[in-house]
Amino acid sequence: MKVLFATSEFADFAKAGGLGDVSAGLPRALRRRDIDVRVLLPAYPEVIAKANDIAVVAHLPGHAGIDPCCIGEARTDDGLILYLVLEPSLYQRTGSPYAGPEGHDWPDNDLRFARLSLAAAEIAAGRAGMSWQPDLLHVNDWPGGLAPAYLRWQGARVPTILTIHNIAYQGLCDRERMPLLGIPEGAFHINGVEFHDRVSFLKAGLFYAEHASTVSPTYAREITTEAFGAGLHGLTSGMAAEGRLSGIVNGIDETWDPSRDPHLPHHFEADDLSGKQANADLVRTGLCLKHSAGPLFGVVSRLVHQKGLDIVADTARDIVREGGQIAILGLGDPDTEHMLSRLARSHRDHIGLLIGFNEPMARRIVAASDFCLMPSRFEPCGLTQMQAQRYGSLPIAHRTGGLADTIDDGETGFLFSDLSGEGLFGACRRAFEAFDDPDVLAEMRQAAMARSFHWSGAAAEYEQLYTRLIGRRTVQVVPAPARRRAPAPTVELRVAA
Ligand code: ADP
Ligand code: GLC
Repeated sequence: MKVLFATSEFADFAKAGGLGDVSAGLPRALRRRDIDVRVLLPAYPEVIAKANDIAVVAHLPGHAGIDPCCIGEARTDDGLILYLVLEPSLYQRTGSPYAGPEGHDWPDNDLRFARLSLAAAEIAAGRAGMSWQPDLLHVNDWPGGLAPAYLRWQGARVPTILTIHNIAYQGLCDRERMPLLGIPEGAFHINGVEFHDRVSFLKAGLFYAEHASTVSPTYAREITTEAFGAGLHGLTSGMAAEGRLSGIVNGIDETWDPSRDPHLPHHFEADDLSGKQANADLVRTGLCLKHSAGPLFGVVSRLVHQKGLDIVADTARDIVREGGQIAILGLGDPDTEHMLSRLARSHRDHIGLLIGFNEPMARRIVAASDFCLMPSRFEPCGLTQMQAQRYGSLPIAHRTGGLADTIDDGETGFLFSDLSGEGLFGACRRAFEAFDDPDVLAEMRQAAMARSFHWSGAAAEYEQLYTRLIGRRTVQVVPAPARRRAPAPTVELRVAA
């Protein structure tokens, strides 16, 4: 089975959040199942700087206002094949995959990711002049959303899956951009790319892909509701009713292992946590926190509204009053950064803040902390709570999305439903009680650290889904009844509208 996996982030080189981790972890797990999966991503500066031996394997023409590009082939050290979209005018910029150094989105993000989507569609349709053509195209989030649409408009029949990592980011642009993006006028329709009189890349992906998946079963249900569907719940609930929407929980990669993580000054295991304590001492010192025998609460997060940092701020005073300390690492909205800076300044001995994106520090804080705060308003999957459990840090999290699916309340962490300072503090109180009872704490840590969260389970589910979609295409292309296959078992989550 051959699969092209198109993504705007890839953790080895360029990552803004969990999509980068998923794009690096899932294809590798699929390869271990003998699937020939290749990853397509833009050639950002970090990619060019870190990839070895890039060979140009295709020249793709321009289309409408989308510039021509080259496709470079590279391999990671462990042999994963990468196809890089080489177009310096679009991708050779300093900043994150989506924004400049000041945090402002690039104004031509529509063209940047239309280029990615079009390259994906051309390779998938066998129009790139390459010796390799996939059986299925798997795209991710709004940056890949136009790929299933381009395939449909070109009349190509390649099965496509769109994975939604976050329905709140939709890739909207003005209708006037359509001619530049090569979007036919007729597609500006409720049954097409139109969303409240603008063009939505994510809606295009949902509308034209054969299947959509999201990164947990609970979030798959949630996005069919008005409260979580970000205006697309009509479409998603229709897809769910047709069996075209699945929820598959992400994994985390095996480098999240406290006994051998090279970023940790002190290693530890479930039956000997002395290294965890030593890491906590170092983190306290590094953040200028007072020495304390109380619990350390960690926060590692993008600083955006979704993550509920305002709720952490509402609760912080109570946590400190009860004898807790908080170590925060994050990067994001300037307003949230300022709010957290003020908080840390007013509790210098007990709340430490690091603004930045720093993977070694993220791992150290997770390893050092006793509990990890995640009061997300919504959380499609969330990786931090899984990383935390592996490192014996019990997550305290809002009962939503993937948090509800990956934390066993009272066994490997604490879930709360009332999304407010009181709700979060109620769960923190339970955490303080557990902290004060060494037997309970030890039992919960053991249970959390024993959870595997390996990518293999998710990869098996994706393989089943791919097989079914590719099989369905074979049925359409070869209509002779004798060759028709029995339907493969489905993995969809059917959700009532
Ligand atoms: P999201 O993708 O919504 O940001 P996830 O929990 O799925 O949330 O994934 C976040 C990933 O990014 C995790 O691997 C986490 O460790 C990492 N991360 C988040 N913030 C930072 C940061 N400031 N520095 C380093 N890593 C971070
Ligand atoms: C998004 C979501 C997060 C998820 C990640 C990877 O960034 O916010 O919940 O874990 O994608 O799928």
